[in-house]
Amino acid sequence: MLGGAPGRSGYAGLLSTPSPSAPPDPLPGRSTTDVLVVGGGPIGLAIAWRARARGLTVTLCERGGLPSYLSAAHVAAGMLAPVAEADPQELALLGLGLDSAARWAAFAGELGEASGLEVGYRDCGTLVVARDRDEAEHVDREIRLREQLGVPVARLLPSAARRLEPALAPAIRAAFHAPDDHAVDPRTVCEALLIACELAGVHLRPGCEVAAVDGDGVRLASGEHVPAGQVVIAAGAWAPRIEGLPCLPVRPVKGQVLRLAARAGEGHLLEHVVRWDGGYLVPRGDGRVILGATMEDRGYDTTVTALGVYELLRDAGELVPGVLELDLEAAVAGLRPATPDNAPLLGAWEGVTLACGHHRNGILLTPVTADRITALLLGEDAGIDPAFAPGRFARQPA
Ligand code: GLY
Repeated sequence: MLGGAPGRSGYAGLLSTPSPSAPPDPLPGRSTTDVLVVGGGPIGLAIAWRARARGLTVTLCERGGLPSYLSAAHVAAGMLAPVAEADPQELALLGLGLDSAARWAAFAGELGEASGLEVGYRDCGTLVVARDRDEAEHVDREIRLREQLGVPVARLLPSAARRLEPALAPAIRAAFHAPDDHAVDPRTVCEALLIACELAGVHLRPGCEVAAVDGDGVRLASGEHVPAGQVVIAAGAWAPRIEGLPCLPVRPVKGQVLRLAARAGEGHLLEHVVRWDGGYLVPRGDGRVILGATMEDRGYDTTVTALGVYELLRDAGELVPGVLELDLEAAVAGLRPATPDNAPLLGAWEGVTLACGHHRNGILLTPVTADRITALLLGEDAGIDPAFAPGRFARQPA
């Protein structure tokens, strides 16, 4: 049982009802916040929470509501999967992902203590499966790559994979198990971060669109100027729309996702995350399953399409036929903030601190991003790999 914080009562009233245990207004008589965070997704909230815990006064502006339905986290499946997603061209990103994955259990525990919410952290491991000869050869290459990189994976015979996960189709051709790739529930993480921020005394400003960064703070779309000692841009796919910054190399990549659920009284379909070439199924502890996700370059469009839903269900149904018997609760689409090299922009650049461009890894990278950016805000050695320097694309010759 987690103690010391409000029980789970939903978001309504969260921002208007002062908690008896809340610290005093962090900005009494002061006109300038130490840190202004732009963006109320998990990255922005976690930075705000950590920075406040280190004694900084913090204001967080989110253009939508809080929790943010605009954040990619609102539709994210919540895989913590640096091993399954490892790419030989992205070794720095793999290192950052492993670092953050190692922080997640403690981060989830601390967040649970601070908020009173269990954030759905599941050390369930991931199964990567293949359905035909081409995919089996691909799985073979992926296993060898991970063995060379020294990250733990276990090759499984199809029969062994089905013993681990009986819902898998008999037709699967190859599989490996990544025992350290886990999952978390992103919506609950955001809800918990919101409560933790509020209790810590972060000044939360939902419905507050930052139009521009200026010399000593930001200008809101309403025209209000908000002075701030430091500004952190954690606005995901919307970061490039903020004026006063150099052109940010971040673009939206749409992902369509289905939320599926077992009927009351039926057992859970899956225990592990199951992945294949182009998709994944992520079980929640309550019997729900998230099926994702498309990868589409369509600007800021978040329409759910018949083709997207069809392809997701077609592939998932081939590998885990029981998926087609689940109830379809929702079909949603979100925008991943992608960069040209798939790695985030982390660090100081042109007068602000950037913490955006996390692409497919926003949930995974939340703890490490919050810790390192907070260190940076405090003037400490944040240890951020130059591979994530925000100006790295600007330096490249044309
Ligand atoms: N992290 C998985 C995705 O973005 O689809």
